[in-house]
Amino acid sequence: MIILGINETSHDASVSLIEDDQILFAGHAERYSKKKNDWYVNKDLINDALQYGKPDKIAYYEKPYLKKSRLLFGGAADWKPKFDIEYIPRVSFKHHYSHASAGYFTSKFDDAVIVVIDAIGEWNTTTIWTGDGNKIKQVYSLNYPLSFGLFYSAFTKLVGLKPNEEEYIFMGMAAYGDANKYFKEINDYFPAFDRQKYNFHKGIDDWKPIILQQDRFDIAAAVQKVYENRLFEFMIYAKKITKKENLVFMGGCALNCSANTQLWNLFKDIWIMPNPGDAGSSLGAAAALYGKHLNWSGPYLGHDIGYEYPVIKIFDELKKNKIVAVAAGRAEYGPRSLGNRSILADPREIYIKDEVNKIKQRELFRPFAPVVLEHLADRWFDMPTKSIPYMQYAVRCKKPNQIPSVVHFDGTSRVQTVNEHQHPGLYRVLNKFYLETGVPVLLNTSLNIKGQPLLNDRHDIKQWEVMYNNTVITKGEIS
Ligand SMILES: [Fe+2]
Repeated sequence: MIILGINETSHDASVSLIEDDQILFAGHAERYSKKKNDWYVNKDLINDALQYGKPDKIAYYEKPYLKKSRLLFGGAADWKPKFDIEYIPRVSFKHHYSHASAGYFTSKFDDAVIVVIDAIGEWNTTTIWTGDGNKIKQVYSLNYPLSFGLFYSAFTKLVGLKPNEEEYIFMGMAAYGDANKYFKEINDYFPAFDRQKYNFHKGIDDWKPIILQQDRFDIAAAVQKVYENRLFEFMIYAKKITKKENLVFMGGCALNCSANTQLWNLFKDIWIMPNPGDAGSSLGAAAALYGKHLNWSGPYLGHDIGYEYPVIKIFDELKKNKIVAVAAGRAEYGPRSLGNRSILADPREIYIKDEVNKIKQRELFRPFAPVVLEHLADRWFDMPTKSIPYMQYAVRCKKPNQIPSVVHFDGTSRVQTVNEHQHPGLYRVLNKFYLETGVPVLLNTSLNIKGQPLLNDRHDIKQWEVMYNNTVITKGEIS
C-alpha cells in the first residue's frame, strides 16, 4: 500500500510518501515555495512526491476537530484543513501520535519510551508513550497552556527573535550569557515540569524593557538552564513510569542539541529522528497508518537534483582555501544540511567562520558545526555515543585550538559524524582532507542565506551563482 503523509496549516508543511516499509520521498514545502516555514503544501512539492507512486490513502498528521476546538477556545477564527485529493481515503492521527510514530517507527528499537515535547499539538504539549513491538501506547500527557515549547518560544520572542522559527539562534546565544543573572526570575515562571505560572501563548507582558545585548545573552542562558533542568527532571519521570532503557525523543524541543546531550546520562540508547519537529510529522502520519517499523536508510529523501557527488572537485577547492558549496543528490529531510545541500570549509582558521557568516548574512556570533569521520570522532570530541549522524547533540571539543571555526564560545560543537555507509561521497572528501592535513573535520553548514529556505533544485543554483560569485558552487558535472 502507498501512503501519502501530509503536515500543513501549521509552521513547516511537508509531504511524505511510503510504500509499505519503504520511504519513497519526504520533502518540505518551503524548499519549493521559497517561503520560510511555509504553512501550506504546494503543487511542485506534491508533483515531486507523486513521481514515486500513486497513493492509495492519505494520512493526516492532526485530528482537525480537536485542533479546531483548541483554536476556537483561544479565540482564533474558524479553521479547517486545506489539502485534499478527491477520491483518496483519508485518515487523521493525533498530533503527538504522529510525532511518536515518526520517531519510534524509524528507530531500531522494539522496546522504548517515546517522549514528545513541542509547543502545542491539538491540546497536548508533552506526552510519554511506550513502544513495544509495533504497538505505541500513551501513558502520560500535559496539556495547553502548560508547555515546554511555548516557554522557550515566548522568551525567544521577548529578546526580539521570531518565535517558532529562531529558537535555534536563541539557544546559540545562551553560550555568551551568564545564566545566574536571571535564573531565579525565569525559574519562577517554570518551577517544575508539570507547573507553570504563566500562559506563555499570550506572550510575556510583565518583563522590564531589555536594552543591552548582554542582557539578551543572559536571558538566553537562564532560559536554556531552566529548560535543561525541567527536561532532565521530566525524562527521569518518563523513565521511572515506563521502566524503559531506550529513549525516542520527538517534537520541536528535540532540536535543542545543547539540552539533549545530558540525556545520555539517563538512557542506554537514544534515537532522535533528524526531523523531530512538525515537518517530520508527514512521515509520522504515514508511519502511523502503516503501523509498523519503516526501513530507515537515512535522511536523503527530498528533491533529487541529480549529479554524482563531486568528491575531487570539493577537495581541490578546499585545498585552494576556498569555501565550497555543494548541491548533489537528494535533499535532506529535516532542518540540517548533512552533506547534500551544504557549504563546506576548512575549520582550522578562525577567520573562516566570519567569512561563512558573511556569505550567509548571519550574525557574526553564530557558531558552525563540524562534520567528522566517525571512527576518529572521539579523539576530537567528548562523544556520548559512537555515532551522531544528524547533529542532535552539542559536545565538548577536545582540540578547540586546532579547529576554532567549528567550536562555539562555550567550547562545544554540534557534531555530525560520517561513516562510509551513511554518505560515501562526504566520507571520501573527509578522508582525503584528513590524509592531506591530519584533521578529519570540516565545517559544514546549510546552503542557504539567513532566513531563507535551503537550496533545493537546479534553478536555485543559478541564483546562487549570480548572487555569490566569490563562492564556488560545486556541481557533480564539474568533477
Ligand atoms: Fe508538534
